[in-house]
Amino acid sequence: MADRVWDTPEVTGWRRVTAHAVRHDLDEPDRRLPLDGTWRFQLLDNPSSPIGDDWASILVPGAWTMQDAGGSDLPHYTNVTMPWPGAPLLLPEHNPTGVHERDFDVPAAWAGRRVVLHVGAAESVLFARVNGVDVGLGKDSHLASEFDITAAVRPGEVNTIRLTVVKWSDASAIEDQDQWWHAGLTRSVFLYSTASTYLGDLRVVAAANGSLQVDVRVLTTGPVLPEGWRVTATLDGRPVPLDTAHEQEQIDVDRVSDWWAEPRFSTVVPDVVPWSDETPSLWTLTVVLHDCDGAESDRTTTRVGFRDVEISGRDLLVNGVRVMIRGVNRHDFDPRTGRTATASQMRADLVLMKRYGFNAVRTSHYPNDPVLLDLADELGLYVVDEANIEAHDHAHEIADDVRYLPAFVDRVARMVSRDRNHPSVIIWSLGNESDYGANHDAAAGWLRRADPTRPLQYEGAIKDNWTGGLAGSDIVCPMYPSLAQIVEHARSGSQNRPLIMCEYSHAMGNSNGTLAEHWAAIETTPGLQGGFIWEFWDHGILQRLSDGRPAGPASASFWRDGAVESGYRWAYGGDFGDTPNDGTFCADGLVFPDRTPKPAMDEHRELASPIRLSDAGDGQVRIVNRGSFRSLGWLRAVWELDGQRVPMTLPDLGPGQEAVVPIPSGVGGPGVEQWLTLCVAVGRDQPWAPVGTEIASPQIQLRPALPAPARTGGTPAEVDDDGLLVHPAFAVAPRLSLWRAPTDNDRIGGQAERWRRLGLPDPERRVIAIRRESDRTVVDAVYETSMGPVSHRQTTHLFGNIVFVSEEVTLPDGLDDVPRVGTVLQLTAGFDEMSWFGHGPRDTYPDRHVGGPVGEYRVRIDDAFTPYLRPQESGGRHGVRRLRMTGPDTPSVELTMDQPRQTSVTRFTAADLDQATHHDELTPRPESVVHLDAAHRGLGTASCGPDTLPEYLVNAGTYRWEWTLS
Ligand code: GAL
Repeated sequence: MADRVWDTPEVTGWRRVTAHAVRHDLDEPDRRLPLDGTWRFQLLDNPSSPIGDDWASILVPGAWTMQDAGGSDLPHYTNVTMPWPGAPLLLPEHNPTGVHERDFDVPAAWAGRRVVLHVGAAESVLFARVNGVDVGLGKDSHLASEFDITAAVRPGEVNTIRLTVVKWSDASAIEDQDQWWHAGLTRSVFLYSTASTYLGDLRVVAAANGSLQVDVRVLTTGPVLPEGWRVTATLDGRPVPLDTAHEQEQIDVDRVSDWWAEPRFSTVVPDVVPWSDETPSLWTLTVVLHDCDGAESDRTTTRVGFRDVEISGRDLLVNGVRVMIRGVNRHDFDPRTGRTATASQMRADLVLMKRYGFNAVRTSHYPNDPVLLDLADELGLYVVDEANIEAHDHAHEIADDVRYLPAFVDRVARMVSRDRNHPSVIIWSLGNESDYGANHDAAAGWLRRADPTRPLQYEGAIKDNWTGGLAGSDIVCPMYPSLAQIVEHARSGSQNRPLIMCEYSHAMGNSNGTLAEHWAAIETTPGLQGGFIWEFWDHGILQRLSDGRPAGPASASFWRDGAVESGYRWAYGGDFGDTPNDGTFCADGLVFPDRTPKPAMDEHRELASPIRLSDAGDGQVRIVNRGSFRSLGWLRAVWELDGQRVPMTLPDLGPGQEAVVPIPSGVGGPGVEQWLTLCVAVGRDQPWAPVGTEIASPQIQLRPALPAPARTGGTPAEVDDDGLLVHPAFAVAPRLSLWRAPTDNDRIGGQAERWRRLGLPDPERRVIAIRRESDRTVVDAVYETSMGPVSHRQTTHLFGNIVFVSEEVTLPDGLDDVPRVGTVLQLTAGFDEMSWFGHGPRDTYPDRHVGGPVGEYRVRIDDAFTPYLRPQESGGRHGVRRLRMTGPDTPSVELTMDQPRQTSVTRFTAADLDQATHHDELTPRPESVVHLDAAHRGLGTASCGPDTLPEYLVNAGTYRWEWTLS
C-alpha cells in the first residue's frame, strides 16, 4: 500500500480508468462479471495494522458500520463538526480500515481481452489489489473507481481480489456533509471486459428541435489503433449518419492520436417530442464498434432525451418555457444499509416524489447512484447533479488550499464525465457549504469548457446581496432565505440570474409551515422559480434495542406507517454512543425512514396540483391547466359535493389555458356548509402512476355554515370544589392549555426554552370565584406565568344532556407568541375511533392545511397521531367543526365548536410527548387526550430557516371560544 496517501489531498486517485459515460453496469452477461455478495472481511485498527488470519464475512455492497462484521465501528452522525478535532489532515490514530477479500473465476474466454474492475463506491479511500498486485487507488466516496486489471488477472483460473477501504482520510474533510458517517463498499463491484480496442466514451447532445450529435471516443491499449475498424450508431434502430465533416466511419480517419479516435455522428430527428418533466420521451441510442471483419467488438446503449436548457435573463428555460422547480433534496439512504439502495428502492423514492407533485431532485450532496439518473430520465424529474464536495467544518481553509485544488476539479470533472448524457440533469452543482474560493472557480472553469450545454450553480458563490459570484454560479440558489428576502430580491431591480432556492422549508419533525405562502409568492413574482425542500429522507437507522446495534441489511421489514415494531426503534445521532453528534438533526425529511410520507407531503401535493380551481361567480368555476408542456388529456376528474361523486369531463386545455364550467348541483340545503372538490386522477398510465391514481383535490367553498344561534337559559352545570367541570365522559376535566409538546422547530428554533421560562407547560391554577347562577355556572381562575396571571373565565350551561361551554382568556401584555390557547381534557377509556368535519384526513395546522381538503373523516384514535422520530406535538386537525368519539362499549361523545377550530385527539398528553426522546419510551394512554384550541401557533420551519409568519403567532390579548359536549 502506497505510503500514507490517505492523508495526501494532492493524490485523488492512482491508475484509474478515465471517467466516462459508457455504461457497463447494465446487463451484459458475456462481458460483465458481478462480484456482489458475501466477501471475507477484517477490520483493522488503522491502515498500517497487520492483516491477521481471522476473517469475518460481510455483504458487498454494504457499509461495515451497518453490519455485524463492523464490530464496534458504528454509524456516527454529525452535521458540521468533524468527528475529530484539529486540522483536516490531523487524522485520528484509530482509523478503521476494512479489508474485503474474495475469490472469483475469470472466464477463460476473457484471455487476451482487457479486463476492468469497477468499484461503484468506497468510503473514503479505496486500495485495490488483484492476485497480490496493487492495481490502483481511488478517492470520492460517491463515484466509481475503475482499474485496468488485465495484467493482474488470470482468465480460466481462480483469482483473489482485495479491496481495502480506509475510513478517515484527507477526503473526509471535503465529505463533511450533514449525514451519518459510514465506511465501506457502498455500491456494486463488478468486472467487465472489452477487446484491447474499445469504446472509451460517449457524448450525446440532443436538442428540442431534434438535432442530435454523438461523439464517440475509441481507445486502444495497444500501441496503435487497428486498421479497418469502424463505429456505427443507431437511434431506436435507425442509423445515425456520420457528421458530414467526417467522411467515413473508419476510425483511422477520425484519429486524434495513434491510440485515440473520435468519430462524430449527427442527424436531425423529425417531430421529436422534447423531453421534459411532463413528457419524458426517450430514444435508445446504440453505438457499436466493429472490427476489421465487420464483427461487433464493443457496444453501448444510452437513453436519449431531446431537450434544451438555457438561461434567459432571470429565467431558467426548459425547451423555451419558464418552468417551476418543485424540487426536493435527496441523499442515498436506507434505514438498514445506511447508503446502499437497490434500483427498485430508488424507483420507489422517485415514484413517490412524482405522485406528490415534485418535478426535481437535487442529489444532495454528491453524485447519487447512477441508476437514480436513469430513473429520473424515465419518470421525468429535473436533476441538479451535485459534486461530492462539502468542506463544511474547514470550509474557509480548504476553498483556497492549493493542496485540495486537484480534488475539487477531479470531483466535478468525474461527475460530469459520468452523467453528461442524462437529459434529466439540467444543472450541475459544484458541491455544498464549502465557502467560496479559487478551487471552486477552477472547477467551474473546467466545467464551463467541458459542458457548455448546462448552467451550473453553487450556493456558496452567491455573495454581495446575491448579485456576485457570477463565475461560480449561474443561479441565485440561496438556502433557507425568508419569503420576504426572495420577494424583495426579485423586486429589487438587481436580480441578475434565476432564483431557485437550493434548500428551503426544512422538513424536520412536524414542519413545513407556510409552504402555501411560499408558493403563492413564487408563482406571482417574476424572477422566482421555486426550489428544493430540505429534504426527502428522515435518516433514522433501524436499531435493535436488545444490543443497540443497527438491525442491518438482512433484517426484515419491522415497520408500518413510520412506526417500528417493539424491540426496534429509529435511531438518530448519539444512539450508537457516537460523540460528538447532532442528535435528531438528521431526521429532517418529508418521509419516514421507511418512506412513509409525512403529512407535509400532502401539502406539497396539493400546491403542485396540475389543475387549479377558483370561483368564477354566477354558479361557475374556473379551471386552469397549470402544466407547462401538456394539455389536460392525461388526467381525469370527478366532482365531489355533499359527500357524493358527480362525473365531469375535463375541458381540453393546453398548458396555461383556462375555462369556466358550471358548478354541479348538490343536495345540501341552505345553511349547510358546502365545499366543491375536484378529485383529480391520472387518466392515462404514467411511468410513475397507473390510471386512477389520485394526485390532487383542489377545493372551493360554495357556502359557509350559518353561525350557531346563541344559547341562553338552561341549567347550571356541575363543577367540583376546584371549579372543574364534572361529567361522566371525562377522565380529566377540561382546563386551559397554553402549551404544546415542542416540535423540532420549537425546540431548535428556541421557542420551547422561552415557553418553559414563561411557565407555560404547567402554570399554577388558582380559583378566584365559583358562581352558580340560575342558568349557568361561572368559574373564574387565573393561571400564573412569569409575565403575570392569565385570566380564564369558563361559563357552563346544561341543556338536557348537552353541556355548553363558553370560555374567555386574556393573556397579559407581553405574553406574546405562545404555542396555543385552548381547552385540554381527557375522555375516559373506551373510545377507539374519531370522526370529524374539517380538514383531513391527516394532520393539518394553521400554516399547513391546504393539503387536507375539508370533509367528513374517520380514523382510529391510535392512528390519529404521526410518530415523528422525536416525539412532539402531532395529530392536529385544522378547521374542525365537530368531533365524534366512538367505542364498542361506550356511548359516543360529540364535541362541536362555535367555528372551525384547531383540534387533536391522541393517546398522549403534551407532557408525555415532551418527556420522551424516542417512541419506544411512550406508552399510549387508554384515555383520549383532546385539545380544542381557540388559537394555535403555526409550525414554521425554524429548526433551520424562517419561522412561521406573524399572522400565525398567538399573542397577548383576549380569546373567546365556545364548544358543546353531547
Ligand atoms: C443545510 C445543509 C444540509 C443540511 C441542512 C439542515 O445547511 O446544506 O446539508 O444540513 O442545512 O438540515
